[in-house]
Amino acid sequence: MSQQTTTVNPAAPTPAEASGTAKLILDGQEYELPVVIGTEGEKGIDISQLRAHTGAITLDPGYGNTGACESSITFIDGEAGILRYRGYPIEDLAGKARFTEICFLLIFGHLPSSGELERFESRLTHHSLIHEDMKKFFEGFPSSAHPMAMLSSMVASLSAYYPDHVKTDDIDLNVVRLLAKAPTIAAFSYKKSIGQPFVYPRNDLTYCSNFLHMMFAVPAEPYTVKPVTERALDLLLILHADHEQNCSTSTVRMVGSSQANLFASISSGVCALWGPLHGGANQAVIEMLERIKADGGDYKKYVEMAKDKSSNFRLMGFGHRVYKNFDPRARILKKMADDVLGELGVKDPLLEIAKALEEIALHDDFFVSRKLYPNVDFYSGIIYRAMGLPTNLFTVLFALGRLPGWIAHWREMVHDPKTRINRPRQVYTGATERPYVPVEDR
Ligand code: ACO
Repeated sequence: MSQQTTTVNPAAPTPAEASGTAKLILDGQEYELPVVIGTEGEKGIDISQLRAHTGAITLDPGYGNTGACESSITFIDGEAGILRYRGYPIEDLAGKARFTEICFLLIFGHLPSSGELERFESRLTHHSLIHEDMKKFFEGFPSSAHPMAMLSSMVASLSAYYPDHVKTDDIDLNVVRLLAKAPTIAAFSYKKSIGQPFVYPRNDLTYCSNFLHMMFAVPAEPYTVKPVTERALDLLLILHADHEQNCSTSTVRMVGSSQANLFASISSGVCALWGPLHGGANQAVIEMLERIKADGGDYKKYVEMAKDKSSNFRLMGFGHRVYKNFDPRARILKKMADDVLGELGVKDPLLEIAKALEEIALHDDFFVSRKLYPNVDFYSGIIYRAMGLPTNLFTVLFALGRLPGWIAHWREMVHDPKTRINRPRQVYTGATERPYVPVEDR
């Protein structure tokens, strides 16, 4: 297929407006720093010339107060529990749009017309095969390999097959390839782990049906994807599609700022997502709930443990750097868990434990005073389980959902004239200069 996406929004962000100045007094000297304001009224003090003028830098471990870029993709108001993709509230998109529409929206900046969507979906369909040689990579992994290890390696390896120096007029061809091939890679890594033959993509199926078919079909008999599981997966992917400058997206931007190619940059995002404090939390939630169940279901004991700092135990799926109110995605997922399990006729004791845990935590002063609410990972795993998806694949599913967000941010960064290589500074606290001592004198 050589069709191109015709209506491509300029990928660079709309520049923030200047809005007065802030004053800084350092060593008795006053400095004026420009203030910029975003379209939702968010203020940023522009410190890009701070070191040049004052010799000082800012210190912000964990970047809780640092805006690393201007972006027009996703807006979050964590205090109000608001999440919007390109201005559209998540509540409006979830259940109405298809995931492929959301991919287009995030990456190209506008909702596709029916013609644009048809062309885009057709391209995703026709690029879903992976190079036959790549199948051999799976042979090299042990069957116990975590699918995130396989996904990150395979995504980086795509750059060996589709290197940047092979020029094409179709500037977004690698974007399409990545979105199209990632579900195939994910399903193949699952088949590898259970020793079943790979099931090739089918061009007559939708994006989500095709993935579920590759996951669960076997050559020995026909397999039909249940509409409820297709709908659920589509919705889950939409809810994960973007979340502005989170750990993995910032990693994609960090790596991409060195002009590393798309596949290398996204592969680094997959690795960043893997950790249990980020996307790995969906696997960790289920492991926690299973532990509670195996321990007699005494969830109150685990709430107490989470409050005891010396226990090093946290309620996985609780808390968020940005949301200090209900995560709007968790609200949708909680209802969805009931609906999907009901429709599939699945009774999962872990859902009951999760609800009881949430109920008690939401009324406990420790969690209330710290504004710790369930996040997107709290209920997603229970839905994946009901759909028959294995626990160690949950973070891979998160990655499939987050792909359009990572890609949108990578494109935005590449097209932003303000982009420089990301290179934070530090406040050095090590030894001051000292002479080298030869080994025989130490
Ligand atoms: N259980 C118990 N206590 C918690 C939890 C939790 N899940 N989360 C935060 N706290 C407490 C901390 O101990 C700290 O208490 P203190 O002020 O008395 O020291 C306070 O709440 C603030 O926590 P921080 O770790 O400083 O918050 P931060 O913004 O750095 O971390 C994070 C956010 C990583 C999400 C954290 O809440 C956490 O570890 N949650 C569990 C893991 C999880 O669910 N991660 C998924 C996040 S969503 C996503 O990435 C898709």
